[in-house]
Amino acid sequence: MHNAWYNVALDNRLHLATLRPGRLRILDIGYGTGIWAVEMKKLYPDSEITAIDIGNDHPTVDEDGYQVHHGVDWRPGVDFMQDDWGLKDGSFDFIHAGMLHSFVEALETGKTSSAESLVSGQAEFLELDWTPRCDVATSPSSSDVSRWWHAMQIASTSIGKPLDYPADIEAIIQRAGCTVLNHRVIDVQTAEDLFNLNADDPQICITHWYRIFMFTPAYKTLNGMSMALLTRQLGWTPADVAALVVRVNYQLNLTHSPYYHNL
Ligand SMILES: C[S@@+](CC[C@H](N)C(=O)[O-])C[C@H]1O[C@@H](n2cnc3c(N)ncnc32)[C@H](O)[C@@H]1O
Repeated sequence: MHNAWYNVALDNRLHLATLRPGRLRILDIGYGTGIWAVEMKKLYPDSEITAIDIGNDHPTVDEDGYQVHHGVDWRPGVDFMQDDWGLKDGSFDFIHAGMLHSFVEALETGKTSSAESLVSGQAEFLELDWTPRCDVATSPSSSDVSRWWHAMQIASTSIGKPLDYPADIEAIIQRAGCTVLNHRVIDVQTAEDLFNLNADDPQICITHWYRIFMFTPAYKTLNGMSMALLTRQLGWTPADVAALVVRVNYQLNLTHSPYYHNL
């Protein structure tokens, strides 16, 4: 899944930015499993790579049980919504933040004042806009997908963490004092065309993995994403949420479903 996102968004590379030659100082914000930081260290073995995350899921042992750190300075337990990340201003040539929900927006709200002051070079943000988009005029706004998304917008906004993606991210980045060098928007279809399964096409590949992880009922991904929000914030019953999610999964899984997300 991780590879699929990066293949599509970054042309099968770890970054799009042209990095200066020499010893680089690189920061990975929200490292997750740590795969990007580990791969970057392999690509730039002389670089200093620091990785922060509120969690603690980076690799610590290899398959034989030996301690590993892959040459990365792991900093678990760092919340990027807090002002102090324990890092010095201007200390990074390159910052990467992959698949953090609307991290760019945090620059605007000043919730995270650190990112732009830390980088003296370039930063890249890879983000998914969860809005289910549809260009087909016949898709009614009363569809189950629209109803689900509308409820999720209201519920997430009511706890101060809106799932809506800001429309003007270039302006946000500029207001944070940076220059936008490249902004790509890629459509990710939610459903596979089962009559056109070309595994070599990166966009078909991403849809394949995305559909499996997000919309296959057995994984209960949408259920997990929706249950607490819709029951606690909107007072829905668990049965109502589960029933709507079944219908949403069904619509998004149809071979010719018109819905897509922006990456
Ligand atoms: C979807 S994962 C993305 C992981 C990785 N960057 C990637 O591209 O695969 C989101 C990561 O962001 C981290 N995260 C979420 N909120 C955070 C916060 N406030 N401060 C630091 N890390 C956070 C989570 O712990 C999780 O590891």
